[in-house]
Amino acid sequence: MVLDDPRNLIGLEGLPAEELRRILDHARALRAGRDGTELAGRIVANLFFEDSTRTRCSFETAAVRLGAHVLNLSAKGSSASKGESLVDTALNIQAMGVDAIVVRTSASGGPALIAEACSTPVVNAGDGRHEHPTQALLDLCVLEDRLGSLSGRKIAIVGDILNSRVARSNLHGLTALGAQVVLVGPPTLVDESFIGMVPAVSGSVEVSHDLDAVIEEVDAIMMLRIQRERASGGLISSDYRRMYGMTTTRAARLRPEQCVLHPGPVNRGVELDGAVLDDPEHSVVLDQVAAGVWVRAAVLMRAMPS
Ligand code: ASP
Ligand code: CP
Repeated sequence: MVLDDPRNLIGLEGLPAEELRRILDHARALRAGRDGTELAGRIVANLFFEDSTRTRCSFETAAVRLGAHVLNLSAKGSSASKGESLVDTALNIQAMGVDAIVVRTSASGGPALIAEACSTPVVNAGDGRHEHPTQALLDLCVLEDRLGSLSGRKIAIVGDILNSRVARSNLHGLTALGAQVVLVGPPTLVDESFIGMVPAVSGSVEVSHDLDAVIEEVDAIMMLRIQRERASGGLISSDYRRMYGMTTTRAARLRPEQCVLHPGPVNRGVELDGAVLDDPEHSVVLDQVAAGVWVRAAVLMRAMPS
């Protein structure tokens, strides 16, 4: 089945720890070596049917740094606006002879449908509330840079877990590497059903509705944006920032070695106060963006082996 093509990256669910290790080690080697010509002559199609700043631009930066050309298509200005389906769009782009398809869509499962229909390798750049595998890989890279091995480490993921593809991909990636994950948020946005999402053999998962109770016991805290585009806005009480935001008051309780992550885009003063975002002692948010280029370079080379 085309979906099993090892060049594809649809999600981190089910990806063995050895494969995660291989991608992360390769990303670090590329970061150390900087620019190359490994993908010279290849064409990467960036199909972004949902808005993006970091993911689209870092896939493009990664491709260009390795010598590839990039073709960018977004919903606005493409014939998707005339009713062409995601899969038909991908089939037409494939017919032009591109070497890899990177896709972001609001449709959970969209990249898997494309991978079933196309023989060109497919990389998921975020699909609905399903997965955002390269985001989680770059998060793992930054966490390892900061903490060393993640085995036995405890990481909090805080916020709109229910609607977050970042949370799902990190849940799979972190537990595969042996970390303990505590999912924190209001009962409307996280419940015990997430505990059953990872196999029993991997790192553990807990759920908490009390950020203040877990803040001291974790090595790192990943804050998430409320995914208003997925209609979770109405579920959030006005007490959200007080209860689940990384405010300056709450951040004052962090030990120097505890770091704060956020995938971006940040809504300053909602999930994260501006002063915490800008605090070089704890915030690794721009390190995440920098790591994203090299993780995506490694994922593109995996998609287009020589
Ligand atoms: N940029 C990330 C995503 O596309 C997180 C977010 O938008 O809040 O999933
Ligand atoms: N983190 C992330 O995916 O950012 P963008 O939505 O801007 O790509």
